[in-house]
Formats: sequence, C-alpha cells, structure tokens
Amino acid sequence: MKKEFDELLEETSDTVSQEGFLRLLAERFPQKLIFSTSFSYEDQVVTHLIKDLDIQIFTLDTGRLFEQTYETWAATKAFFKKNIKAYYPDAEELQQFVTENGPDSFYQSVEKRKECCNVRKVHPLKKALKGYKVWITGLRSEHSLNRQHMPQLEWDHDNQIIKYHPILHWTTQEVTDYVQKNQLPYNYLHKKGFASIGCAPCTRAIQEGEDFRAGRWWWEDANKKECGLHIHQ
Ligand code: ADX
Ligand code: SF4
Repeated sequence: MKKEFDELLEETSDTVSQEGFLRLLAERFPQKLIFSTSFSYEDQVVTHLIKDLDIQIFTLDTGRLFEQTYETWAATKAFFKKNIKAYYPDAEELQQFVTENGPDSFYQSVEKRKECCNVRKVHPLKKALKGYKVWITGLRSEHSLNRQHMPQLEWDHDNQIIKYHPILHWTTQEVTDYVQKNQLPYNYLHKKGFASIGCAPCTRAIQEGEDFRAGRWWWEDANKKECGLHIHQ
C-alpha cells in the first residue's frame, strides 16, 4: 500500500482541484475509499464534494454525542439520500471500561480520557478502516498548531492507509459560505459558539478570540488535545 501512496505522491500536482483529485482517487481505487464524518461544518462540505463519487461514508457513534449531532446525522442522511455507516464501541470492552471507571472518568486524568477515546473512537475506527485504501477527512489546518504543517495527502503508518484532507487549507469563511450557498444541513451548535464539536461531556462553546479547539477537553493542556484518531508522523 505504501508503494501505491508513493506513486500517487509523485503524480500529484498542486494545480489539481480538490474535486479533481477526489475523482482521480475514486477512479484509481474503486470501492476502496472511505470518508469519516462527525457532521461538523467541514464534514458537511466534504460530504457535498463527494456526493456523486463512489466513496463510502461512516461515523463513529461514541454513545456520548450531542442530541444536535444526532439531529444533523438524520438531516444529512435525508439530504444526501445516502447511508452513513455507524460504528460503535465494542459492547464488552465498553461495559468493562465503564464498570471499572464509572461513566465520567475522562475528567480524572489525561490517561483516563485517552482510554475512553480509545474504547469509544479509536478501536471502532480501526474496524471502519479495515479493507480500505484511502481515508478522507474534513481536517483543517486552522484548527490546531498540530494540523498547520500537515500535508494534504499523507501516509498513515499506524493504520496503513492513504489519508487525504480535501479542505485542509480552506478558511472558516470559505467553509461557512459553502454550507450556506449549498443550503447544507448543519449542526446548530455551530451557531451557539461551538467551533469544534466532539462528545457532549468533553466539548464546550468558546468565547470570541479563543482558539478553535479551546472547547475540546477544555480542562487539559492545549498540547494534549488529540483523541488518537489522527496521529501524524
Ligand atoms: S478529533 O480528532 O479532534 O476528534 P475533529 O473533531 O477535529 O477530530 O475532526 C476531524 C476529522 O476527524 C473530521 O473531519 C472527521 O473526518 C473525523 N472525525 C472526528 N470525529 C469523528 C466521528 N465521531 N466519526 C467519524 N469521523 C470523525
Ligand atoms: Fe470519551 Fe470524551 Fe473521548 Fe468522547 S471525547 S470518547 S466521551 S473521552
């Protein structure tokens, strides 16, 4: 697979549009492309960009999402008339984890929080990516320092998969304009100060001037705020 990535990288030119490159990927790897959505503004844009392509869509239902996120999921399914495959934590693993640690152990320490993210997000992600060659995301470089120097096309060694972030360099304005112009359904929490939306107990709204991801795991140090879905080599 890494060889296919190296070949792809050699052929990639900056002049190809996101739409053009998504089409190229879909033709090159038929039925081997998958897009992960959390129904954020960004993910709604990507869902629209790929709507006519042979690309599967999945979401990780952690069991702790906001009600508004489930509403956006239902609205998205209806709008695009597409199935969005839902992945869940392993029932036994979750049962054991919550039995031993209680329902809200993520507030106790970074280790406990990461354990919860592993059970509820990272392990289901591994199941979702199985058998695919390209993983498409809605990551944006403006969202965190970590993401500022990320390449748009990268090799994910951990998951042995090619990763492509079509709107990595879009600005917030471009994203919101696109959602508006195309009248896409969106998570109403975005209008209430939630810039980045994850699980309900781990996400709060941000104040003006605060960092995009300040509302995620707000009780932790800024440099620890990744949940393990996106690891950059
Ligand atoms: S996270 O790593 O902090 O949780 P973030 O919320 O910034 O990620 O979202 C970045 C990208 O990760 C999204 O565009 C989406 O592709 C993917 N993602 C995040 N959360 C989920 C989820 N619950 N289900 C599926 N994909 C997700
Ligand atoms: Fe658990 Fe919070 Fe991570 Fe969601 S974001 S999986 S509730 S620690």
